[in-house]
Amino acid sequence: MNLVDAAYARAETSGFPLSCERPVGRLLATLAAGVRPGGNILELGTGAGVGVAWIVSGLGERTDVTVTSIELDAGTAAVAATGAWPSFVDLRVTDALTFLPTAVGAFDLIFADAQGGKIEGLDLTIAALRPRGVLVVDDMRPADGWPEDFVARQDGVRRTLLDHGDLVSVELDHGSGMVLSTRR
Ligand SMILES: C[S@@+](CC[C@H](N)C(=O)[O-])C[C@H]1O[C@@H](n2cnc3c(N)ncnc32)[C@H](O)[C@@H]1O
Repeated sequence: MNLVDAAYARAETSGFPLSCERPVGRLLATLAAGVRPGGNILELGTGAGVGVAWIVSGLGERTDVTVTSIELDAGTAAVAATGAWPSFVDLRVTDALTFLPTAVGAFDLIFADAQGGKIEGLDLTIAALRPRGVLVVDDMRPADGWPEDFVARQDGVRRTLLDHGDLVSVELDHGSGMVLSTRR
């Protein structure tokens, strides 16, 4: 089984319900393939490892980048850690809000998929982008059953990204609704 299918299977077996959808993963793979040699990729919120699996699949045979993924919940991180990851993948168990201030200007591609670094501390995530770095955020289209306060918070993220002076951003009707931003 390939890394992506194995990650979705792991998510299902462990009962983790929040993995990124396949269209989102396909976009992550596409963007990962374009990261420069020596570049660094970050995911906030590892979950069961589906996003990392898509990123690694986009890299193909390349080993000239680093992929760091941050997960707050130790139990969830332990599920992701059972994946067959290449050595350039670094899965860390910590709070994104603790990690991000140590990583200013460090990343070429960031998938912000955790409350920390997205709903709280979005400014820290933007600061962690290198110039010309790309930020990917999903779940930007309200879904049935979202509580009103969650809709408002997600919309706040969306507006911040679209209006931010350091970013050039586009809204995509793709997957769960996405905003893609490049740091000037
Ligand atoms: C939407 S899921 C991630 C799914 C994963 N990115 C994927 O593509 O399959 C969000 C994850 O973020 C984690 N999380 C929430 N707050 C966090 C924080 N402050 N720092 C790091 N991880 C956090 C949650 O425990 C959860 O596993």
